[in-house]
This record gives sequence, C-alpha cells and structure tokens, in this order.
Amino acid sequence: MPHIAVLPGDGVGPEVTCSAVRVLEAAGAAFGADLQISTHTVGGAALDEYDTPFPDATREACMRADAVLMGAIGDPKWDHEVGARRCEAALLTLRKMLGVYANLRPILVPEAMAEASPLRSSLVAGTDILIVRELTGGVYFGEPRMRVAGYAVNTMEYTHEEVARIARVAFRWAEKRQGRVTSVDKANVLEVSQLWRDVVTEVHAREFAHLELNHLYVDNAAMQLVLHPRQFDVVLTGNIFGDILSDLAATLPGSLGVLPSASLGGEVDLFEPVHGSAPDIAGRGVANPMGAILSAAMLLDTLDMSEAAQCIRRGVTSALAAGFRTRDLGGRSSTREFGDVVLEHALDSTPIPA
Ligand code: NAD
Ligand code: IPM
Ligand code: MN
Repeated sequence: MPHIAVLPGDGVGPEVTCSAVRVLEAAGAAFGADLQISTHTVGGAALDEYDTPFPDATREACMRADAVLMGAIGDPKWDHEVGARRCEAALLTLRKMLGVYANLRPILVPEAMAEASPLRSSLVAGTDILIVRELTGGVYFGEPRMRVAGYAVNTMEYTHEEVARIARVAFRWAEKRQGRVTSVDKANVLEVSQLWRDVVTEVHAREFAHLELNHLYVDNAAMQLVLHPRQFDVVLTGNIFGDILSDLAATLPGSLGVLPSASLGGEVDLFEPVHGSAPDIAGRGVANPMGAILSAAMLLDTLDMSEAAQCIRRGVTSALAAGFRTRDLGGRSSTREFGDVVLEHALDSTPIPA
C-alpha cells in the first residue's frame, strides 16, 4: 500500500493539510487504496522541538515514502535565523534531496470562480495555464552565496543539461494540452538567460518542432499574465521567475490559497500548495484548503490513482458550484467546513467500483 509522508509545517500548513489528508484518505479508500499516512515535523515547529528545521527522522521518512505531501513552513517568529537554520532552507534541502527539479503549478479559472478575481471576469474566465518552474537550480542554489558586513552575493547559474531536462518536461506537457510553450527569461540582460533561451530553442527544434514556442522577457511576461492571461498554455521558466510569476498568477483565480503544485522528477515526488504559512490568518481556521486538497489530487495522479484524483477535483468543482467558499474568495466557510463539503461532494460523485 502506498506510504505518504505528510509534513504539515507552520502557520496555516497544519490547518490545510488536515483537510487535504482527510480528503486524500477517503478518496483513496473509495477506490480500494489503503494509503499509509505518517506525519513528520519540519520548519519552525521542528526548530522549536528539535533545534533544527529539518530533523533526520523527517528526512529519512521522506526518502522512504512513495510521495510527500507538505503544508507550508516559515513564520516571522523564526525570521532571525540564518543559513541552514532558516525554515525555508529545510524546504529547499528537501526539494534538492528528493531531486524534484520539475515544479508544475496549474492555474485554472473555471467560470464559477471568475467573479472572485480582482480582474474582470470576462478577461480571466477560462484561463488554463501550466507553469513549469525549474526547482532545484538557478539562483536558489548557485555558489558562491554569502553575506558579510556590508556585502552579500548570490549566484544565478544553469547548465545546458538542467535547462534541457526542464524544457522537455514543458514540451511533453504541451503535447497533452494546447501545444504551446512560452519560455520566460531575462535574456536581454543575463548570460544565464541567454543560455536558457538557446537551449530551449535547440530542444524545441530537435525534438518538439511540431509544437509552438515563443519567448518572453520576464517583465513583459508579468504584464501579459494580467493583461491577457488566456494567451498562455504552458509557461516554462527558471526557479526565481517561476516563484514570482506563480504568486502573480494567483490573482487570476483571486487567491493564492487555491493553487496546488507537484514537484516531480526525483527519487520521491513532493506535493505542496503554492502558498506559504500565511501568518496573517494562521490559527483562525479560515485558510483556504483548496491548494492543499488539489495538491493531494496531483499526488494521486502520479501514484496512478487518477480516478480518485478526478473524484477530488469533481468534489472541489461541485462544492464551489454549490456556493461554498472560504473568506479569501468572499465566502464564509471555515477551512474544515470547506474540506468536508469537498469530501462529501467527491464521495457523492464516486462511481460504485465494479
Ligand atoms: P504567504 O503565501 O504565506 O501569504 C501571502 C498572502 O496570501 C497572505 O495574505 C495570506 O493570508 C494569503 N494566503 C496564503 N495562503 C492562503 C490560504 N490557504 N487561504 C487564504 N489565504 C491565503 O506568503 P508570505 O506572507 O509572503 O510568507 C509567509 C511565510 O511563508 C514566510 O516565512 C515564507 O517564507 C513562507 N512561505 C512558505 C512556502 C512554503 O512552505 N511552500 C511558500 C511561500 C512562503
Ligand atoms: C514557494 C516558496 C518557496 C520558494 C520558499 C518558501 C523557499 O515561496 O514554494 O513558492 O521560493 O520556492
Ligand atoms: Mn513562492
């Protein structure tokens, strides 16, 4: 039976993860999978308890699991920490340790959600973008990196191979979608981006010439995402640009709380909502669990339980259609209530297995 390591983390992490695990277990069970769930400490919670944000026991559990489901880490309370003691460092080490270089961040704006966007619903309704973000390279991991009195340095770097493999992921997804890839870089200024653009162009010409490829500079891409979001199908980009553009893209459905992600390509795959620990609303039971729940659906997809995954997605669509929404989308449901309604609707939609 598949074993899922769950890392709830800090802030709203435990709140949204709790809903996601309830939905995950029930949807799995409805399709005959008895998922083994174990829970482990990470981030600030681990700093408090074990004096490290990434305890050995958590590392080992993740490496042994079939998949990892994570909530969120970090809080201003631990912001004085530096280097490997930072909560964020635990997440980056986890991604690097698992080797999950391909981060998929789908941004969907179904008709029923378009009115929650600060942008005109006629502009955003029907948006269906897949951001493919490189996750284990770039300026997040480049050396040297350091800070001394009055000076600090980070290094943005990519190798030919790192760009080629993430480009292939984006093109393969485009083949299953509308066949269009927009690669985002800053090739007018950065050598790293010039390499990025050349390699993406080369992989396209050699292996995926039947698909459409265009390139945008990241500043223009940010504007285009807001101005005309439906022009995009797959957006391929590096680590830091993908981080920034995905939060920006959260304005399309109207809340960061709804975006899921899957980090693939490693020893063990990692699933986490795009949002952070949301200290401004943590502990009040009002966070939107959709990002976490839909991340659990992506997890089921990669474990070859697509029917269970689809059933969760139908549960979310149908909970929204029935008018349930958390506060970030202008509704009054609590985290737990929304998760329970999704579960109810998901199970209602389950075909009885033969
Ligand atoms: P954040 O994503 O935590 O919050 C940004 C805004 O979005 C806030 O207004 C918050 O209330 C809202 N929001 C986020 N998730 C929500 C949800 N589920 N439902 C409703 N509203 C939601 O970003 P931040 O405030 O810049 O960062 C807070 C901490 O989280 C920092 O320590 C940061 O490093 C960390 N962080 C962690 C992750 C992660 O664990 N994957 C991701 C991003 C940020
Ligand atoms: C994200 C987060 C992380 C990132 C941080 C918390 C390390 O913002 O997953 O989007 O920058 O990758
Ligand atoms: Mn981010």
